[in-house]
Amino acid sequence: MLLGLKGGDGGEGTWQKDVSNLFLLLIFLFHLIFTAQNEEKRNLELGGHVGFDSLPDQLVSKSVAQGFCFNILCVGETGIGKSTLMNTLFNTTFENEEASHYESEVHLRPQTYDLQESNVNLKLTIVHTVGFGDQINREQSYKPILEYIDAQFESYLEEELKIKRSLFNYHDTRIHICLYFIAPTGHSLKSLDLVTMKKLDSKVNIIPVIAKADTVSKSELDKLKIKIMSELVSNGVQIYQFPTEDEAVAEINSSMNSHLPFAVVGSLEDIKVGNKMVKARLYPWGSVQVENENHCDFVKLREMLLRVNMEDLREQTHARHYELYRRCKLEEMGFKDTDPDSQSFSLQETYESKRKEFLLELQRKEEEMRQMFVNKVKETEAELKEKEKELHDRFEQLKRMHQDEKRNLEEKRRELEEEMNAFNRRKVAAETLMGQALQGCSQQPFKKDKDKKK
Ligand code: GTP
Ligand code: MG
Repeated sequence: MLLGLKGGDGGEGTWQKDVSNLFLLLIFLFHLIFTAQNEEKRNLELGGHVGFDSLPDQLVSKSVAQGFCFNILCVGETGIGKSTLMNTLFNTTFENEEASHYESEVHLRPQTYDLQESNVNLKLTIVHTVGFGDQINREQSYKPILEYIDAQFESYLEEELKIKRSLFNYHDTRIHICLYFIAPTGHSLKSLDLVTMKKLDSKVNIIPVIAKADTVSKSELDKLKIKIMSELVSNGVQIYQFPTEDEAVAEINSSMNSHLPFAVVGSLEDIKVGNKMVKARLYPWGSVQVENENHCDFVKLREMLLRVNMEDLREQTHARHYELYRRCKLEEMGFKDTDPDSQSFSLQETYESKRKEFLLELQRKEEEMRQMFVNKVKETEAELKEKEKELHDRFEQLKRMHQDEKRNLEEKRRELEEEMNAFNRRKVAAETLMGQALQGCSQQPFKKDKDKKK
């Protein structure tokens, strides 16, 4: 092709010039791109100490000043040891109110405490399930728990969507961890456990624990742990996995993942073992030490929950569970990132279309209500007319009855009057007769006297 061009009429100089121009242009473009890329990633040496290396410290002191909040949800049957474990974990006595076994449904009881350790303030909320596992029909037992978790997400979302937000001092009540208490009795999980954990696993970080582990022998406990884990896996229940991305905690976290579910024992009772006071449960045959790793997994739970992964639990709650809730909720409300034609999403358009939808719905509802009102008025009118007719008929009937009665009375009065007249006549006649009789009697002695004189 070059040869072909070379042979062209007098154009040798022109095409060579064009090629070299093109070449220069390409070099220029490459240079531009290269510098632009390099400009984004340029590494520069600092001449001396500037001070932004204190940013992590600034963050720490700001966070410390602000304080932290941590929210634990304890799900487990009544009397399974929830309160005792919480008291043991935080080495204090929170409330110890016993729940009754006769609750008609499950409800949640949140309680918030302000705790301080060194200079770190922690606003701790412990939420207990009350009446869990006590109903005959337990199909809906998970619902109040789910609703509680969603309600906390909802109020956070509402705060986020406010024009004047105050997330800085907002009391975040979103559940960071759900400790699911499994009863040590039985050979595996109950269906209530499986259903509840399955329903909750996309909403909250779940750590399953076998409660009152001192009531089962070691070999039984090992078997129970294996059975529980295999049931969770076969039913697709996602429990919280301690993160292994961070090298600093990868080893401990991955080893702890294999110890799940933790078999725990709770107690605030101090007993003397050797020359040390330890937390334990005392039995006639010996004692179970809460913080002895050969006796139970309490230390592992405390280590994982409070000392190693507390921040990850908070982060996972925000970045995974809340994010999912927020996404679904915003989509439900009609917000989206891109429309079907991949046009950029317009908040204004969504707002307008939602507003239109809302107004149409409002109009429809108004019309429905108006129609209902008209029907109701018509119905009432017909009922009133019916009642009026009934009353009128009744009135006519009463009027007739009254007239009949009046006529009868009139008749009776006439009869009585006649009777009275007849009586009076008889009376007069009788009186006349009596008068005459009396007159007759008074004349007779006079006649007798006359006869005697004769
Ligand atoms: P409600 O709040 O009433 O549902 O009970 P709960 O789950 O908070 O249980 P709680 O901590 O009140 O403990 C109930 C009973 O179990 C108490 O007598 C505790 O002493 C006992 N208990 C708690 N933890 C353990 C444990 O690890 N092992 C044994 N054996 N008993 C325990
Ligand atoms: Mg309790």
